[in-house]
Amino acid sequence: MISKRRERKDEHIENYLKTSGHNDPLFDDIYLDHNSLSDINFDEIDTSIEFLGRKISMPLMVNAMTGGGELSADINEDLSSICQSLNIPMAVGSQTIGLEDEEASESFTLIKEKDLVRIGNLGAERSLEDFKNAAGMIDAHAIQIHLNVAQELFMPEGDKDFRGYYDNIKNLLSQLDVPIIVKETGNGLSKEVSKKLIGAGVKYLDVSGSGGTNFIEIEDMRDFVSDYKEFYNWGVPTAKAIIDARSLSKDVFIIGSGGIKTAVDMAKAIIIGADMTALSGEALRYLLLGSYEACLDYLKDMNKRLKIVMALLGVKNIAELKKVDYKLTGRLKDLVD
Ligand SMILES: Cc1cc2nc3c(=O)[nH]c(=O)nc-3n(C[C@H](O)[C@H](O)[C@H](O)COP(=O)(O)O)c2cc1C
Repeated sequence: MISKRRERKDEHIENYLKTSGHNDPLFDDIYLDHNSLSDINFDEIDTSIEFLGRKISMPLMVNAMTGGGELSADINEDLSSICQSLNIPMAVGSQTIGLEDEEASESFTLIKEKDLVRIGNLGAERSLEDFKNAAGMIDAHAIQIHLNVAQELFMPEGDKDFRGYYDNIKNLLSQLDVPIIVKETGNGLSKEVSKKLIGAGVKYLDVSGSGGTNFIEIEDMRDFVSDYKEFYNWGVPTAKAIIDARSLSKDVFIIGSGGIKTAVDMAKAIIIGADMTALSGEALRYLLLGSYEACLDYLKDMNKRLKIVMALLGVKNIAELKKVDYKLTGRLKDLVD
């Protein structure tokens, strides 16, 4: 079972690199006016925000991906070093394997040594005890509860009984003293689901919408017999999920993820309601198909390019970025109530 989990993680990583990437987070349907009278000194633009009690350099984190096998340990080592040097947070991948296998837990515990905001990750079916252990394993500043119904359904050996998640989340909220982030895994939190979660007392939502990493396709590739192409477009596009979640509450902390690849995506996600953004797949692509330096440069450049977007809009900090006016066009306009 444990070696199966390790193998599965490696297959996810390999298959991710082969996915078609044709889904759309709908950021192109957000129009922003250019500001020809930008009253800004580029060098004074401040992209920092406060997150989980720490000032971070930009509203971006590397989201949950790996842990368990040797490849995962190398990836976690590289990503956490990169995040530390850029002062941005990092979430580790599902820690289930680390709870079951002492050796595998080392691929997670290595991030404890790093001076950065560390975020744990487990599925919504796991017990309070498991969550406490997972948080302890990496000395976590927060823990993500992931919702991955779509992935499990298309995973040949996946769970098919999804009862009890909501009650378990409520229980964890009342019992766990580590901040909880409830996140999707690339199919998006709908307005109805966000409403339920906010109603239950969830303070941090990661919408992880469709338009980026596509686990239905990743799982489908692992099974040569099946062909589930008709589901590849399933999910709530990231831009819609952000707008919907923000329409429900001005206080909930929203992480916009799912298909964030550029600084323009990042800025748009914030303008429509996210407090910060997260990316997974694109960082992995730079790391595995490029190198440590390529991934570091890509993320460093995101910060520089975010400043360029902010200068073009005439805003000097993230609080001002959040107030920028925008217009919705195309499909996104049709989808938002
Ligand atoms: C190889 C890979 C493994 C992932 N494993 C996890 C996981 O263990 N737990 C989780 O919550 N999300 C996992 N995700 C989902 C991401 O955290 C994120 O929600 C999703 O990929 C959408 O973001 P993206 O389009 O920037 O990749 C994984 C993503 C990738 C690419």
